[in-house]
Order: sequence, then C-alpha cells, then structure tokens
Amino acid sequence: MSALTFEALRRLADGRFHSGEDIARSLNRSRATLCEALKGAPELGVELFSVPGKGYRLAAPIEFLDAAAISRRLGSADPRLSLQVLDEVDSTSTRLLEMASQGAPSGTCLAAEWQRSGRGRRGRPWVSSLGGSLTFSMLWRFERGAGHLGGLSLAVGEAVARALVECGVARAQVKWPNDVVCDFRKLAGILVETSGEMQGPSVAVVGVGVNYRLDERTLDRIDQAVTDVAQCASVPPTRSALLAAMLVCLAGAMEAFERTGFSAAREAWRSLHAYQGRAVRVLPARDAPFEAEVVDVAADGALVVATPDGRTVSLASAEITLRAR
Ligand code: BTN
Repeated sequence: MSALTFEALRRLADGRFHSGEDIARSLNRSRATLCEALKGAPELGVELFSVPGKGYRLAAPIEFLDAAAISRRLGSADPRLSLQVLDEVDSTSTRLLEMASQGAPSGTCLAAEWQRSGRGRRGRPWVSSLGGSLTFSMLWRFERGAGHLGGLSLAVGEAVARALVECGVARAQVKWPNDVVCDFRKLAGILVETSGEMQGPSVAVVGVGVNYRLDERTLDRIDQAVTDVAQCASVPPTRSALLAAMLVCLAGAMEAFERTGFSAAREAWRSLHAYQGRAVRVLPARDAPFEAEVVDVAADGALVVATPDGRTVSLASAEITLRAR
C-alpha cells in the first residue's frame, strides 16, 4: 500500500465529507494521483464513498494511533519500553523477530495500523482492518532458558485481559491456553514465539491482536465466534489508550515472569478463566474429543480437568481446543 493512501485516509479520518481538491492540495498531489491512492482503501478493510459535488467520506471514522501520545504515557509510566508505530507491515511479530536477531533491546514494541499478513496460532492468518483492530508485538529478553518459558503465554493472556478490564471492558476474561474472550467470544488473540538456549538467555516475541471495532466485511472473513471492544465496553477506550495500558500491563507481567515464572500470575489467571469449573468438550489436535470439567490451572500453565470416569488429566498442548458444553 502506498504511503499516500494512509496520508489521504488520515485527512478523511473524521468521517465527514472532504473534497478531493482540498485533500489533493493539502498533500501536494494531483486529484488523479489521489484518486488512484484511494483505490487501495477496500484492501485495508475501509469503506469509502465518493459523491460527485461533495467529495470523499469514510463509512465510519478511523482513530489512528497517536504514537507521540502513547510514548509520552509510556515514558513516564514505563521507561523500559520503546514503541514504534508503523502504518503498514507484513506482521509486527515477523518484523520484531528480525529486529531481535539483529540485537534489538528488551522492551522494543512495534504496533502497526495494518498488517499485510498477520499471523495467528497454528499457522492461521490473523484477520484485521485499518482502525478496526489493534495489532502489536513486544520483544522481551529473559535470563531464564527457553525451556523455562512454559506458562508465559498464559501470563500474557492475564495481562492483556487485565488491561482490557482497566480500560472499561469489565467482562474480559481468559480462555485456556491464551485467548482473551468476552461473553465466550474471542476478543483478542496472543501469539508467543520464543527462542534461545535451554539454560538461558532466551527471547520472546509476544504478538497481540485485539478486535476493536469489526465491520461486517471483516467479520465475514473470520471463521470463529468473535466480539470486539466497541461492543463489550460501555465507554470504549481510544485505541491509543488501550495500547498504552496493554504495554504497561505486559511489561509488568514479563518482569514478574522473569522473577517467578507463571506462579506470579496463576491466581489472577484462575479468577479470570471463563471456563473455570465449567463442563467442556476437549478437542485435541489428533486424538478423539472427550468431555471433562475444568478443575484448575497448574503451576506450569497446564489445564487440569476431571473426566466423567473420575480421572484427572493435565492438558499441556497449545494445540488443544476447549468448547463449552
Ligand atoms: C491467535 O491465533 O489467536 C493469535 C493471534 C495473534 C495476532 C497478533 S496481531 C500482532 C502480531 N502480529 C502477528 O502477525 N500476529 C500477532
């Protein structure tokens, strides 16, 4: 996507009519160049009307991230973090993994208004739209070895859910292993990628995608039950405020994890688990599904369930899916 497309959409972000002539002049471009640039809007999931005599108007306003405002909040609250906001990237996690291999420091964060190829867990794509989602990644370096990062993705889920609750999404909860849900529908997804030596040090790139305000066309491209912040919060936070809150909560969670592993977040995670004590159907990736009741989460992040024949089973693989019965 051209940089001009993003610049033109910023001029239209308030959702009002703006004449093509005014926008083109403010960008120092011809109207034909502007018209060409705006042809990229549908690919970004943006609906744009063009009305002769009135100009261009977005179907809904877009709140672009305010990088300076977020960094100011982080600067005072959290000097451990440094944030870069891009208009476009293939995937914030892919880019941050590259930056990690080139020595980027712990606490480097990357957010993007739009990802060309956002990645979900299990090799799935992560679907998002410009202004309708929050997509970012955080790099953290640990003294402990890669083999001791089990449970990190649960600690991340707890931090993300807590940030959502703090920002007014009161019913945000976690779903084992690392989804964030509201009313049993997916609100945010988490992808944790780790590397390093068994004995340490190690590095984690934590990618978070939040459904902020999903439009019908984006919803049509998602094949699971989802919801968004706009529906779940009585007064939705701005995307910038939500991102700042998440980064602060995540940095705290990473530090606590470095000290004590998942045990620091275990109690809070348990109390936020949407399926705690519930009857579920367990869908392993390869084995036959079975019914069980959720009992607990173990110190290593495994989910402990009881089967109807009285056995206690520890579910450790992130490949397992839970369904409410
Ligand atoms: C999931 O499948 O639930 C995990 C989704 C993780 C998506 C986020 S969006 C920011 C970061 N960049 C990516 O490509 N993926 C993660």
